[in-house]
Amino acid sequence: MGPEILRDMTFDIPKRSFQFLTGPSGAGKTTLLRLLFTSLYPTRGIIRMFGRELSQIPRSELPMLRRRIGIVYQDFRLLDHLTTYENVALPLRVRGKDEASYRNDVIELLKWVGLGERINVLPAVLSGGEKQRAAIARALMDRPEILLADEPTGNVDPPMARRLLSLFLELNRLGTAVVIATHDLALMDQVDARRMILTEGRLDIYE
Ligand SMILES: Nc1ncnc2c1ncn2[C@@H]1O[C@H](COP(=O)(O)OP(=O)(O)O)[C@@H](O)[C@H]1O
Ligand SMILES: [Mg+2]
Repeated sequence: MGPEILRDMTFDIPKRSFQFLTGPSGAGKTTLLRLLFTSLYPTRGIIRMFGRELSQIPRSELPMLRRRIGIVYQDFRLLDHLTTYENVALPLRVRGKDEASYRNDVIELLKWVGLGERINVLPAVLSGGEKQRAAIARALMDRPEILLADEPTGNVDPPMARRLLSLFLELNRLGTAVVIATHDLALMDQVDARRMILTEGRLDIYE
């Protein structure tokens, strides 16, 4: 099965907390986020989410659980043939919700992330920062209790990175727990936040 990527770690992500998850490339940041999103199962060890042990939760309940978790992938994962609005609304449309019940929420959310003028365009004409903000809006559609963001500033310039960071901080002030995986020291130095540092499979936490 190959070597263990993560081991001997115990930590929690408190409600309404804000933290960076950091460590060199290959340290296991993405792997840890995937474990938290339940898209990956641990080979050993216990993960407890919202008070329940993951191994006790039937697979059929995982989609419901994942709605309480927002995730922003490093490569955005927007669908090229859908507009910004359609990409953000997609999770709700797939669930068969009536458009009238979410249309205003999607537009409000897009305005909140600063994409009010980009609602009806395709991803191809969006800049990296705009794509990232569309992906953030999509992750927030279900008002998750925790947002996981994988290297959200990896593809943008420093001013946009600061802007994205302010969005995450604002979201956190509104009550959402936030975990930002990053190896961008300049970004982390802008906030006095908890740092979870991965090195050789182990985790150190600096409060
Ligand atoms: N699906 C996978 N199968 C096996 N090994 C993987 C897989 N994904 C990542 N890895 C390995 O796990 C380690 C951690 O990767 P990753 O979590 O992507 O690190 P980071 O996000 O910190 O760069 C790396 O050695 C990588 O090669
Ligand atoms: Mg990664």
